[in-house]
Amino acid sequence: MDHSNESATRVSRKRNGKGLHRRRFLGGLVGAGAALAATTTAVSLIALTDDKNKASAASVALTIPDLLTATTTNGVDVYTLDMQTGTSEVLSGVSSTTAGFNQSFLGPTIKVTNGDSVQMNVTNNLGADTTVHWHGAHVPAKVDGGPQVAFANGETWSPAFTVNQEACTLWYHPHALGTTAEQVSKGLAGMLIVDDDSDASAALPSDYGVDDIPIILQCLAVDNAGDIKYNLTGYQSSTLNFPFLVNGVNADSTTFTFAATKSRLRLRFLNASLSDIITIQRNDGSTLTQIATEQAYLTKATEVDSIRLVAGSRAEIVIDAADAATLDAVITTGWVRGGSGTYSFLTISDSSSGTPADLPSTLNTITRYDTSAFTARTIKLTQSGLNMGINGVVGTTMAAMKAAEISTTVGAKEIWTIANSTQLEHSFHLHDVPFQVISTSGTAASGVDLGWKDTVEVIGGGTVVIAMEFTDYSDDTYMYMLHCHLAQHEDEGMMAALMVTAS
Ligand code: C2O
Ligand code: CU
Repeated sequence: MDHSNESATRVSRKRNGKGLHRRRFLGGLVGAGAALAATTTAVSLIALTDDKNKASAASVALTIPDLLTATTTNGVDVYTLDMQTGTSEVLSGVSSTTAGFNQSFLGPTIKVTNGDSVQMNVTNNLGADTTVHWHGAHVPAKVDGGPQVAFANGETWSPAFTVNQEACTLWYHPHALGTTAEQVSKGLAGMLIVDDDSDASAALPSDYGVDDIPIILQCLAVDNAGDIKYNLTGYQSSTLNFPFLVNGVNADSTTFTFAATKSRLRLRFLNASLSDIITIQRNDGSTLTQIATEQAYLTKATEVDSIRLVAGSRAEIVIDAADAATLDAVITTGWVRGGSGTYSFLTISDSSSGTPADLPSTLNTITRYDTSAFTARTIKLTQSGLNMGINGVVGTTMAAMKAAEISTTVGAKEIWTIANSTQLEHSFHLHDVPFQVISTSGTAASGVDLGWKDTVEVIGGGTVVIAMEFTDYSDDTYMYMLHCHLAQHEDEGMMAALMVTAS
């Protein structure tokens, strides 16, 4: 990834009538546990270089991750990923030790189609054990990339599977026990796009990098020396900065530009932060046209004021070039010390001709579950001191994850009450199958919350009721997982095994 234009071309913020301000306040945060909260509130303002006086410079084009090409052998599309270390300028002017897939930070986008036979050849050159999980993919547990399939430095892991789900925006990242936060924050994340042959997919923009644009958003914690922090100890540093990155490039004082050559764009947003919450909105205050939640298209394009993405979440929008906009990201801490403030991160300009066809009136059919005969469970998100848990079990070892195991069978239809018994925010993620949100703290789901999801916000003290069906893929040995996607919480034990066995 080319970061060479960054220091030379600092673009001053586009100021506007809404009076958006750069974040220059980093206090007011809450740590993962009570002890940390006490520590972090003592850490107040951090002096940052003021970019106000810098002259505006040439615009900086949005970086688009490469699209990974497959080699096809006997009908199997083989993708090659090399997990490697390197350096990158995540904080302007400072070099950080980072990691990425086939490059030094983040990874290429992989685009597959429902029904494809794929094989991922993943080589570990990190100098540490790792795994790669296909977040949101509906695949057998053995190839899901959990801690049971961790592989050592120098080894290549080659899971093969058939893509078996509707069009959606997924991602891939490490998932070894205890090192997920470290490895993801160093840069090991990439987008995984699933295409399909639906009428909606035919009608929506799908030309990668031209009118189908990945937007990977991250807020990191980095000390002044460029060291990326990922755990409670690191977060106690008094010299933390929380840079905001768009597709791996620092966006703290840059509004990237994208000149639309097609009359309609599709943007796929991924919040790949460890814990920060990112809310996307138009700078002019008008609505966004959302077309998809994490696991599928919505039933129809839906106007929303903003899109709130907790750690691990995705969403898709379409935007007509004639309606070109500046997009803002509002960062709030995900209840682990983190960034805050509003960033105008992308200005789309219209270099297109022609008018897009009307959007299809229907994008998808979603049959809402009648949960009256579903098996009910309660999944408690728990905390004791600095230990995070599921149903009171701190899942920091395989044995503990098994102790808190949820076991079910293929064909089971279940309704789960995710009850957050902590004061902290969590991002609940289920592997294997998509779920429907039934209600949130007693309020029935509506609007875009009626879409298929795999990651959902659970506020401190709140409950979210979700329903799912374990449609296929059983295994007696390999587990899926359910966990908090605040990666620090997951590493601190808010993770349990999910075993799906034959009925
Ligand atoms: Cu994105 Cu279990 O993870
Ligand atoms: Cu959490």
